[in-house]
Amino acid sequence: MADNVVLVGFMGAGKSSVGRILARRLGRCLIETDAMIMASEGRSIPEIFAAEGEAYFRAAETEALRLLAMKHGEVIATGGGLPCREGRPDALRALGTVVWLSGELDTLVDRALRGGERPMLAGKSRDEMRALYQAREPFYRQADVTVDTTGRSTDQVAADVIRALRSGRPAASTSRSLA
Ligand code: S3P
Repeated sequence: MADNVVLVGFMGAGKSSVGRILARRLGRCLIETDAMIMASEGRSIPEIFAAEGEAYFRAAETEALRLLAMKHGEVIATGGGLPCREGRPDALRALGTVVWLSGELDTLVDRALRGGERPMLAGKSRDEMRALYQAREPFYRQADVTVDTTGRSTDQVAADVIRALRSGRPAASTSRSLA
């Protein structure tokens, strides 16, 4: 199994910010699937969604995932929807230790809406966002480790992740051991 640290979670969980801190503290590189897609497409995620639609973007995520098989020893931050398809949790675990940055939905959504354009949230009511989250949660739950971001700064979350990785036990809760 490859030895990457793979961050998953809903939009607004802080995957990019925590990933940046983790990469610095662990002396690794940060790879973001959204950035891979933007680089290969030469346009932003909202532009891709607007011009091509969601299915096209999901196919680009599949290609990004295929390319990640070549990576070792990195921190990988995934887009919020990437883990949420049949077979994806296993494919991500094959890349390394999968860490779910969990949190309370309203907080996640508030953070996501503050943090720039999110096509998957645009025009949705809170109930629709909750439905999207609930459909995704079973996929996130299949991570090796869960770290709760509620009330924690990105520095604290990164420290919790490192502690969990080093101890072989989760900082908050887990569905699976790190072994
Ligand atoms: C998406 C999340 C986004 C980005 C795209 C779709 C999703 O990434 O991949 O807008 O479906 O949840 P973040 O989770 O970094 O916001």
